[in-house]
Amino acid sequence: MRAVDSRDMRRRPVIVGIGGTVRAGSSTELALVEALRVAAEGGADTRLLGGAFLATLPVFDPGPAGPTPGQLELVAALADADGVIVASPGYHGAISGVMKNALDTLELARSGERPYLADLPVGIIITAGGWQAAGTALVTMRTIVHALRGWPTPFGAALNTSEGLFAEDGRCRSEKDGAQLATVADQVLGFARMKQAVAA
Ligand SMILES: Cc1cc2nc3c(=O)[nH]c(=O)nc-3n(C[C@H](O)[C@H](O)[C@H](O)COP(=O)(O)O)c2cc1C
Repeated sequence: MRAVDSRDMRRRPVIVGIGGTVRAGSSTELALVEALRVAAEGGADTRLLGGAFLATLPVFDPGPAGPTPGQLELVAALADADGVIVASPGYHGAISGVMKNALDTLELARSGERPYLADLPVGIIITAGGWQAAGTALVTMRTIVHALRGWPTPFGAALNTSEGLFAEDGRCRSEKDGAQLATVADQVLGFARMKQAVAA
């Protein structure tokens, strides 16, 4: 476990958002941005690794090939994180390949000081065209986060994009959807702060 000293109590928690799709105007990425906005409003420093970034990651090769700068950037961002929010669309009942590839890439952090997503609260956001995939992709992502030794937050946001999630200003049309994203952000931030307090 990473050593945390009392200076950490005065530090703003760093929340890293990973997700979105390659599609311009991705609603998954907009949902992630909204959750990060809430986390920032709550006092976090936030960082977004969105769909365009994820699309630059090569298909993860577990062989001896050296990591690319993008892969190292992903691992470094997580090494500095106090909490993570992941956001994926439901693709064919599970998470997207781009998102899974990013998570596979965390294999590079297996032998690090803090392996994978160990000790980190991880909020999950899923968008899908229907409720069935929203639910199954959420369960899939929780399973993956457990495998990566992360702590999925109790609440996960499941958003149905079939009726248009966002208004022109990037905010949720429905209060309920906004509340889901805010709950994910609040739970990640709350856990990160609890950890800082315990370690102080
Ligand atoms: C390859 C692909 C597979 C999809 N599979 C499903 C699915 O199984 N169930 C579902 O409800 N929606 C499915 N969708 C719809 C997406 O989950 C939905 O449009 C999502 O919100 C897209 O996110 P984006 O706006 O960030 O691109 C699929 C879309 C694509 C492109």
